Amino acid sequence: MHGLASLLLLGSCAVQSVFGRPDVSQARREGVLLRRAVNDFIAKEEQYAIDHVLCSIGSAGCYSQGVASGLVVASPSKAEPDYWFTWTRDAALVLKAVYERFAHKYDGNLQKEIHNYIISQAKLQAVSNPSGALSDGKGLGEAKYHVDGSAFTGSWGRPQRDGPPLRAITMIGYAKWLIENGYTSTANNLVWPIIRNDIAYTAQYWNQPGFDLWEEVNGNSFFTTAAQYRALIEGSALAKLLGTTCDACDAVAPQVLCYLQTYWSPSRGYVIANLNTNDGRQGKDANVALGSIHNFDPALKCDAATFQPCSDRALANHKVWVDSFRSIYNINAGLPESAAVAVGRYAEDTYFNGNPWYLNTLVAAEQLYDALYVWQTTGSIQVTSVSLAFFKALVPSVAVGTYAASSDTYKTIYDAVFLYADGFVDKVSQYAYTNGSLAEQFDRNTGAPASARDLTWSYASFLTAVARRAGVVPPSAADQPQRPGETVTHCRTPRNPGLQWTCQRRSPR
Ligand SMILES: *[C@@H]1O[C@H](CO)[C@@H](O)[C@H](O)[C@H]1NC(C)=O
Repeated sequence: MHGLASLLLLGSCAVQSVFGRPDVSQARREGVLLRRAVNDFIAKEEQYAIDHVLCSIGSAGCYSQGVASGLVVASPSKAEPDYWFTWTRDAALVLKAVYERFAHKYDGNLQKEIHNYIISQAKLQAVSNPSGALSDGKGLGEAKYHVDGSAFTGSWGRPQRDGPPLRAITMIGYAKWLIENGYTSTANNLVWPIIRNDIAYTAQYWNQPGFDLWEEVNGNSFFTTAAQYRALIEGSALAKLLGTTCDACDAVAPQVLCYLQTYWSPSRGYVIANLNTNDGRQGKDANVALGSIHNFDPALKCDAATFQPCSDRALANHKVWVDSFRSIYNINAGLPESAAVAVGRYAEDTYFNGNPWYLNTLVAAEQLYDALYVWQTTGSIQVTSVSLAFFKALVPSVAVGTYAASSDTYKTIYDAVFLYADGFVDKVSQYAYTNGSLAEQFDRNTGAPASARDLTWSYASFLTAVARRAGVVPPSAADQPQRPGETVTHCRTPRNPGLQWTCQRRSPR
């Protein structure tokens, strides 16, 4: 645990001494009040969030009657919109949050849910569906299934190639826990075969087109590529721990990392979320911050090649993406550039009239909490020409440079970013149901909850964001071959890596 919150008061005093702004004591009072409000919200909401995550997991959850054991329903909403399905992506991200909570503090009930999830995914991998089957791997790219685990055969944006790597990342986390706690044979015999399918799929099909995480755009998508890279790196590291290898991981991961660089536009100063598509959008999309937080590895510090949350690229992108919602949502009207706002997917969004989302507003906070953690543990903040605009919006006098933790500028920036991050959580608090219920969206004009109620992913996003705020971070992915700060300049992206699909059909237990 790192006392991220404890520096706040100290640093607010530094604001006063450095800048001597006349309104500083009022700003400090507002900062203290905001932090207190966010603390109070978290104290209430955390239990509500974990309870409602568990509600959505079959078969005993309060919202999951009729759901197969271990499957995660996206929302109990069965009409307008009908989210009564299990999505591979949502489920993996939800179980990742559950696993992180379990790894931080042992809980037998959470462990049972993780086991049920793993068993359910072994079965799901074997279900033939409109994307294909397990025999050549293509069936793993299916986006969603019925809640009894049968194939969904209606038309849909398929395949979606982020599901398998995200599921692998979640299971790899738990497999490492098993190894560390003396259950290597369980990891080897029961979990690794499932992981191996997903990383084989990832290595073989990573550069083929697929639908993005919002299920709208067919092409290459930053979030997907970032998840693919992370799964291959982690898959390779886990293989070594298990006394084996993942040759495909080792061969393909550098290519994926290389390709990841192509999403960054130096001229525009942000990450273009979707490539090889003609979506008519600017490319400013929550996709990118989501990719960044799910690739967070504290050991990589502010590495730009992997778009770490505190990298200058990711911070520049954060500003451009958040700013894109300032003028288009009426509920954000009148708020200054230094204030947090309600955040959506992308400005051109029309789904349910194009609203802010709870989970994306929480992602805006989580990226900053990740950054604060790294600054605190490395003892400095670097401001580059790329990230300068992000910092200047919060601390107008800041200049390009590296600021040691002992400096007043560090404390000023640190506290301003902390308050800014808390502001996003405060937006969620402001627009949640008073009982703590989180839907998918909230109305851009009125702030009223909108679209699917009790979105499981909303609760998972809350749990990971507030864990980061408390200084609880995921363990480092071992053996990162990319050195922090290294710039990838030469990129080869073969159309077909030519790897053989080597998956065996398993009989689920
Ligand atoms: C919370 O409030 C919403 C909206 O009024 C309601 O639909 C939901 O059932 C409530 N949840 C609980 C657990 O009371």
